[in-house]
Amino acid sequence: MALLPRKRRCKGIPTSIASQDNLGGSNPNDRVRFSEVGIFLVERRMGASRRRFLTELAQKKGFRVEEQMSESVTHVVSENNTGNEVLELLEKQNGISRTGFNAALVEITWFTESMGAGRPLEVESRHQLQVTKDSVAVTEVSISSYACQRRTTLKNKNKLFTEALKVLAESAELNESEARNLAFSRASSILKSLPYTVTKMEDLQGIPNLGVHSRKVIKEILEDGTCSEVENLLRNERYQTLKRFTSIFGVGVKTADKWYREGLRTLDELRASDVKLTRGQEAGLLYHNDLYVPVTRTEADLIKQIVERAVHKFLPTAVVTLAGGFRREKEIGHDVDLLITHPEEGKEEGLLCQVVNWMTTEGLILYGGITGSSHKGRSKKPEIFDHFEKCLSIFGLKKELVNNLESKNLRNSDSLAGDETQGIGLADHTEAAQQVMVAAACNKDRKAVRVDLVVVPYSQYAYALLGWTGSRLFERDLRRYAKHLKNMSLSSHSLFDIEQNAFLPAATEEEIFAHLGLEYIPPHERNA
Ligand code: UTP
Ligand code: MN
Repeated sequence: MALLPRKRRCKGIPTSIASQDNLGGSNPNDRVRFSEVGIFLVERRMGASRRRFLTELAQKKGFRVEEQMSESVTHVVSENNTGNEVLELLEKQNGISRTGFNAALVEITWFTESMGAGRPLEVESRHQLQVTKDSVAVTEVSISSYACQRRTTLKNKNKLFTEALKVLAESAELNESEARNLAFSRASSILKSLPYTVTKMEDLQGIPNLGVHSRKVIKEILEDGTCSEVENLLRNERYQTLKRFTSIFGVGVKTADKWYREGLRTLDELRASDVKLTRGQEAGLLYHNDLYVPVTRTEADLIKQIVERAVHKFLPTAVVTLAGGFRREKEIGHDVDLLITHPEEGKEEGLLCQVVNWMTTEGLILYGGITGSSHKGRSKKPEIFDHFEKCLSIFGLKKELVNNLESKNLRNSDSLAGDETQGIGLADHTEAAQQVMVAAACNKDRKAVRVDLVVVPYSQYAYALLGWTGSRLFERDLRRYAKHLKNMSLSSHSLFDIEQNAFLPAATEEEIFAHLGLEYIPPHERNA
C-alpha cells in the first residue's frame, strides 16, 4: 500500500511523535474511536522508525496503539515473522506466554487493510499468523470474544467460577467501575459458553476475555475451592448494604451509596429514617418482600395473558409478546418484560395510557408511571436507552390464580381476568393508584411483581424484540460487533449502516442477524 512506506522511506517522520517512551505524543490515545481494539506492533523486522510511522498513522485514524504488550491488546501485528517467532519474542521480551494473553496474532495486511477502511476489520484466516504446535501448545481459538457469536444456553457447566466472577462484577458495579464490571462480566460469560467444566488451568488455553485477575480467581477456586477476595466481599458490610439497597425498585448505586455513607444499613432503618424517597422508591420499599422473590414462569405467563386481555379491551388486534429472560427460556426472573405492538403502525398510539389507567383502577397495577416517548425512534448513534413509551410498573398478581394454575385446577384461561374485568371505570390515575397501593400492600391476596410494558411501533418491532430479549451482555456485544466490525449502529429501534448512510429495515430478528453477517442465534442460546 502506497501510504505505508517501507523502512527506507521513513524520512520526515515528525520527531515530536517519535519518543520511545510514548509513541505518538502525550495523549496519543485521546482521540480513540475504537477503544475495544488495542494494537501492539512488533518491532522485529519492521524497524523502529516504520513502527513509529505506523503507530502515528493508526492513532490519527482513531486506533489505540499500545507501546507495551498488555492485557488490553487485542491485535498483535507483525511483519515478516512467523507466528512461532512472535510468540517466542513476546515470551522473551515481555515474559508473556501464549496462555497469558488472548490477542490475535495478525499479519501486517490486517493493519494496512484496516487503515484503508478507516476501521478495524474482522480478522480473516488469511490475516492470521500460523503457529505450529511443536514449539508452543496452542489451542485453535474457535471461541469468539463477542457474545453474539457464541451459543450460550442455560446449561452452565462452570457455575462455581461464574458465580464468583459475578460477585466481583457486581462489586465493581457498586464501585461504579464500568471497566472492571465489564471485564468480570465478560470473563463470566465466556465460561458460561464452554461445553465442558474447567478442571485445570490448561483448559483455559486460547480462551478469550480472561484477564490476569479473572484467571487468578479461577486458579484459586481450582486449588482451594473458593476465592478469598470473593469470600471477603460477601462478608463486606458495604457490599452487603449496597446490594440490599439497590435491590429496591428505583434505587441506583449513587443513592444506595449515599444512604450507606449516612449510616443506614437495613431496610427497616431506611423506613424509619427521614430520607426523602421518590414515589417509585416508596412503592419499591413497600413491596420489597414480594419483589425480592423471583418471578416464576407460571406467573410470567399469567401476567402476559392478563395484560393481553387488558390491551385487547382497547385494541383487539394488538400483539403482546413476552421478552426478557423468559423468552430465553429462563425458569425465573426478576421481572416480566412485555412488548406491545400493532401490525397497523400508529394504532398503538395512546394505548398504553388507557391500558395502564384501567389496570390501575382494577388493582392490577399497584404502581406505575408512563415514561419515554416514541417521538425519537431512529437514531444514527448507538444508545443504551431506548425511547419507547413504557410503563415500569409493579403488578398485583392474584395469588389465587397462580395457586389454581399450579394445582392444575385452572384450565380455562377465560377465568384469568374474569373478576378483574368487572366494574370498569377509569378513575383518577394517581389517586387511585395510591389508594390501591396501600390497600394491596396489606392485602396478602396479591403478589407484587415488577412488570415492564413497552409499546413499540410495528416497523421497529424486530429491533425492539432483539433488544429486549437480552441478555444484557449479548445485547452489548451485538452493538459492539455492529460498530467495530461492520461500521453499523444498532439500537432497539434500528440498524444504521454508516457507509451506506442508510437504515436497514428488518421484519424479523433473523433479518437483523443477516444484516450484521452473523449466524442466527435463537433466544435460548443468548444467555451470555
Ligand atoms: P432485564 O433487566 O429484565 O433482564 O432486561 P432479563 O434478562 O430479563 O433478566 P431477569 O430475569 O429479568 O433478571 C431484559 C432486556 O431488556 C433490555 C436489557 O438490555 C435486556 O437485554 N432492556 C431493559 C432495555 O433495553 N431497556 C431497559 O430499560 C431495560
Ligand atoms: Mn426481565
